[in-house]
Amino acid sequence: MGVRIIGTGAFIPPKTVTNDDLAKTVDTSDEWISSRTGIHNRHIADNMTTSYMASKAGKMAVADCGIDVLDIDMIIVATSSPDYPFPSTAALVQREIGALRAACFDISVACTGFIYAYSIADAYIRAGIYKNVLIIGAEVMSQHLDWSDRSVCVLFGDGAGAAVISSDKSDTVGTVTIHSDGSQADVLRCNKDNIVMDGREVFTFAVRTVPQVIMEVLQNTGTDINDVTMFILHQANRRIIEAIAKKLKVDITRFPMNLSEYGNTSAASIPILLDELKKNGRIKAGDKTIISGFGAGLSWGAILVEW
Ligand code: COA
Repeated sequence: MGVRIIGTGAFIPPKTVTNDDLAKTVDTSDEWISSRTGIHNRHIADNMTTSYMASKAGKMAVADCGIDVLDIDMIIVATSSPDYPFPSTAALVQREIGALRAACFDISVACTGFIYAYSIADAYIRAGIYKNVLIIGAEVMSQHLDWSDRSVCVLFGDGAGAAVISSDKSDTVGTVTIHSDGSQADVLRCNKDNIVMDGREVFTFAVRTVPQVIMEVLQNTGTDINDVTMFILHQANRRIIEAIAKKLKVDITRFPMNLSEYGNTSAASIPILLDELKKNGRIKAGDKTIISGFGAGLSWGAILVEW
């Protein structure tokens, strides 16, 4: 039994906040933010909820692959900013899009959420339990920001991305590896309402673990790194991605990025980028791509996806 991504969708809230806008309220500058992170802009949800954006992205992903919404067996929303402690954001998405047969729940794995959600979908499908799983990464990160803390508020943005994962007759090579290290839980956390982090520790952790987990997935699947067309990474920071590319000795042009426009949208960043790459024709049938995420937990993981 193979597993494939058969549809993608994304929703970006229209309101934007540029680096220059931030420089009017905190002691920062476009030069500081863009040179250290690659971020120039971010989109802010304003009054939109996580479930609203998740439903929009989910609906687009279902329309993209053309399946009947009633054929969705499960909805998983990866989010650190759910509308409520309960019901789950996934249940609210189910109501909005009419996926009445689906089992629904949220997962909390911060910026690695999409990878973990994929791993659950992959396991249910390969076990023959379900055929179609809608996974969504959706975040209103702006609600977790102390807008007077320049070391954190410049990094994040809001948005949602979605993918339909489905069973496939061909034995695709897709495989997932996920890891966690709770001993590092304090390095990046959300205290009550505000994100606090040791930026340097997070940077070092990402540059150490992401190349390792990518190599692990390549070895597990017997895949040559040169056969991977693109490395689609969590969009936290340009310098992190550049350092990972250097470690893997892979040209940076094989690491697509859109963080300049959106900032770090946590669990939403990977599916937003996937949707962009599919819609602009950069991902083609037969391509092998690595998708990798990292973040709070600490947590990290990678997937080899054949399109
Ligand atoms: N504008 C201007 N100055 C800022 C600033 C901002 N937005 N944020 C921090 N500074 C200041 C600091 O206060 C510090 O000043 P000081 O030397 O007077 O104390 C100085 O800039 C250097 O800070 P430092 O933290 O050493 O910078 P850095 O080179 O490590 O870059 C990050 C900071 C956050 C950009 C970098 O550590 C990083 O990218 N970390 C990863 C963060 C991340 O991606 N997290 C999410 C992962 S899922």
